[in-house]
Amino acid sequence: MYFRNREHDFLNRLAPYALKSVHSNEAYRIPINGEYVFVKVYGPKKPRFMYEIRCMLNRIGMRQPIEYRPPRKRKECEESYLRHWREKGFHVPEIVVSPFPKYEDVPHLSTTFVNGVTLKSLLQKGYSSSEKNLINLFTDMSKRHQLAFRTQDNLLFHVDANTQNILAANNLFVHVDFEMGHPWEALMESACREVSKLLISVGEDLKPNERELVYSLFKKCYRNKELLDSLASSVSERPFQKFHRWRNKRKKIRDPRRVTLYDLVDTLRSVKGNYPGSFH
Ligand SMILES: Nc1ncnc2c1ncn2[C@@H]1O[C@H](COP(=O)(O)OP(=O)(O)O)[C@@H](O)[C@H]1O
Ligand SMILES: [Mg+2]
Repeated sequence: MYFRNREHDFLNRLAPYALKSVHSNEAYRIPINGEYVFVKVYGPKKPRFMYEIRCMLNRIGMRQPIEYRPPRKRKECEESYLRHWREKGFHVPEIVVSPFPKYEDVPHLSTTFVNGVTLKSLLQKGYSSSEKNLINLFTDMSKRHQLAFRTQDNLLFHVDANTQNILAANNLFVHVDFEMGHPWEALMESACREVSKLLISVGEDLKPNERELVYSLFKKCYRNKELLDSLASSVSERPFQKFHRWRNKRKKIRDPRRVTLYDLVDTLRSVKGNYPGSFH
């Protein structure tokens, strides 16, 4: 009860700085000495009901992803990813001292504010205006994954790499939101999670007729055939194929813009890895 009150006080205090958010955590932009600090307060995930069940499973010893652990653990995990990526030279916001030391008991993350736009809003301008950026993004990702496989480093995957968790600032891509890490998993599994999450959300942000172009570009830049094969077999060799295909169809009837894992692997299989610019 005491914690709930403290959290409530803190959120009230931060309210004037709230960022409009479709996310589950509360996010804020706090002005400090002429600069901005990004603050995120860890809260329950939506839907709340599922969140509470998975938290309970975690408490009785059934391991759940980091996002279903207590807020303090989520903060510690996210900070360790951020530190690690920075040490290895990848682009992430820098952790800063909290502007609210009095609320240290309410777990929150404070980082430099990235002045940029989300990859989602870049993509809304259409494929051709984002092609150069996408080449950089996919090539950087390929190099990062190569390093991860070479050094057996599971912290180098951005498992929740959707287009709202990648910010474009000064021609660089900055990755945010590492709460979904699965550091106990095999490297290939995490790599497949990152690739599928990113490509599905990129596909959904572009027009349907631009998807083949972008997946072909990815194949050209990423160049890890083993991953593409592993991704394809993790989808098409799961048990209960008929059931998954049926669910897949239902999802698309409800939302025709939806890109499913089957759409992704089928398209990746059928497109060639094209050289940039060759389709204009
Ligand atoms: N350091 C930052 N600077 C600027 N914007 C950020 C920063 N970190 C996150 N964001 C923006 O805030 C959104 C929510 O933060 P995020 O860490 O993704 O929380 P959630 O776990 O709720 O998705 C992100 O999708 C991103 O657009
Ligand atoms: Mg996010």
